[in-house]
Amino acid sequence: MSKPRVLVTRRIPEAGLKAVQDCADVEVWEGEGPIPHDVLLQKIASVEGLYCLLTDVVDEALLAQAPRLRVVSTMAVGYDHIDVHACTRRKIPVGNTPGVLTETTADCAFALLMAAARRISEAAEFVKAGCWGAWDPTLLVGHDVHGATLGIIGFGRIGQAVARRATGFGMRVLVNHSRPIADDILSQSHVEQVSFDQVVAESDFLSVHVPLTPETQHLIDRQVFNRMKPTAILINTARGKVVDSEALLDALRDRTIAYAALDVTDPEPLSAQDPLVMLPNCLIVPHIASASVATRTKMAVMAAENLRAGLAGQPLPHCVNPEVFEK
Ligand code: NAP
Ligand code: GLV
Repeated sequence: MSKPRVLVTRRIPEAGLKAVQDCADVEVWEGEGPIPHDVLLQKIASVEGLYCLLTDVVDEALLAQAPRLRVVSTMAVGYDHIDVHACTRRKIPVGNTPGVLTETTADCAFALLMAAARRISEAAEFVKAGCWGAWDPTLLVGHDVHGATLGIIGFGRIGQAVARRATGFGMRVLVNHSRPIADDILSQSHVEQVSFDQVVAESDFLSVHVPLTPETQHLIDRQVFNRMKPTAILINTARGKVVDSEALLDALRDRTIAYAALDVTDPEPLSAQDPLVMLPNCLIVPHIASASVATRTKMAVMAAENLRAGLAGQPLPHCVNPEVFEK
């Protein structure tokens, strides 16, 4: 019996590719960068499975060209690049990769926090530029992490993992969450649940961990920046669009807030000439929060397992629209 056809939209870690090849006849987009949308539109017509990345837009228009499609599997936990409702209407299950990247992403959020607080990137540039003279009591002084207040917006998997790191550093941790958090979880985590206004006003570091949805788009806007401390540092490892980029640029230029450390931006990628990139008080890395060898391998394999289940007509191990399997 012939194997189902699958399109993999980028080169992925070997273990993930092997797992897909075991169950499907696979075409991998080998070009540099994301598969162009017109190529994706053309190739989707003949495949039963789509193994995609967060750079691929899976919308109504794409699905309309995909009469054979039985499963969409993204190698990411965030699935804002997929029109899940449109997939559900067509009974196409959508898989993602929750959990396996939680700790690695939290490590990166905390690395950004530490680098911003202690001006690590600036200090490294200073040495490379040959500026290092005698020890100076006023040179590159930053802010303490220990004893500071960290605000976390979105107390899900990654938000909780960041809180664990912060309590280890002796920080006071305030969290704002979509729902009330049970008292035992609050006390075990050593965090306080507070209103959005309070987390914004009291945080020395504000770290965002919500998914991108219509409700969270531009959650951090001009009004929010105006209510933050002028010494505050914003950390974003969630999605670029959760922050209003124009308002962020103004807030950093006017020193309404002190600093931003970003793994995600709107748009992505940013050019080296982007005004945000050129600011001295903004540290930007290129969406690498889950980028450890071990985690990317786990994500690739997990996405392959979701794909395999979908092709077999079985419930996906990690499905964002499990209702498609209801009779
Ligand atoms: P998660 O476990 O679903 O956590 C997100 C939490 O945010 C959920 O508990 C959700 O609550 C809560 N939330 C939603 N809207 C909110 C709001 N307006 N205010 C406060 N809380 C809100 O997801 P996760 O695994 O932690 O991942 C979070 C996001 O991080 C992903 O969606 C992805 O976009 C991003 N991410 C980025 C990277 C990277 O490489 N930079 C890596 C991994 C993840 P409800 O369940 O009640 O909605
Ligand atoms: C990365 O951004 C992810 O959502 O996995």
